[in-house]
Amino acid sequence: MGAIFQSLGRTVLAGVVIVAVMMGIAGTFGKLGEMSFWTFFMRWLHVLSGVLWIGLLWYFNFVQIPSMPKIPDEHKPAISKVIAPEALFWFRWAAMATLVTGVLLAGMNGYIGKALALQAPFIAIGIGMWLAIVMWFNVWFIIWPNQKKALGIVTVEAAEKAAAARMAMLTSRFNTMLSIPMLYCMVAQQNAGL
Ligand code: HEM
Repeated sequence: MGAIFQSLGRTVLAGVVIVAVMMGIAGTFGKLGEMSFWTFFMRWLHVLSGVLWIGLLWYFNFVQIPSMPKIPDEHKPAISKVIAPEALFWFRWAAMATLVTGVLLAGMNGYIGKALALQAPFIAIGIGMWLAIVMWFNVWFIIWPNQKKALGIVTVEAAEKAAAARMAMLTSRFNTMLSIPMLYCMVAQQNAGL
């Protein structure tokens, strides 16, 4: 057991093996030739990457940002030089994976155009997709460029660094706000509607 849990890669692999065993017991491997299985599989990949993205967004907003003022200055580099760059790597690529799997899923479901045009009966998922696309844009084109300045990955004047940190923080808060109606819409399409 220790050999598995001491390695993140082996831990994730163990999770995948458990899924494969469940699929074997349920006879799901017999459905690999069916399109409906691959649509379901894409939905699973989409939710996995979405949880990683929004989990990290909520980590930044619920844990890291409120904790920074409580950390003594000499310890702050542990966050800004080590933890934040690593978290931001997974954050922005999880956002990309969520967008790609979400767009593929909407395409496989055959309603991508109608959903983006907010046509019935795809209004809920259409709004959810637009909210999430705005959030993805914010991650890649506002939060990440500003975080590079704030964390010293790109060298800028002190005033610009402070302004960049503030812009990244406010945009991250904006995305946290949008994540709530976005997730409502994501799950509404299959369930209660809007
Ligand atoms: C980035 C752009 C995104 C696009 C284009 C997108 C697209 C989609 C589509 C097409 C569906 C299927 C809806 C249906 O027919 O039931 C879906 C479902 C879902 N999405 Fe997204 N999504 C995006 C972002 C996210 C994010 C950030 C999350 C966060 C976790 C998320 C979580 C979910 C969940 C939980 C479902 C419901 C799965 C189910 O009911 O089986 N999505 N999304």
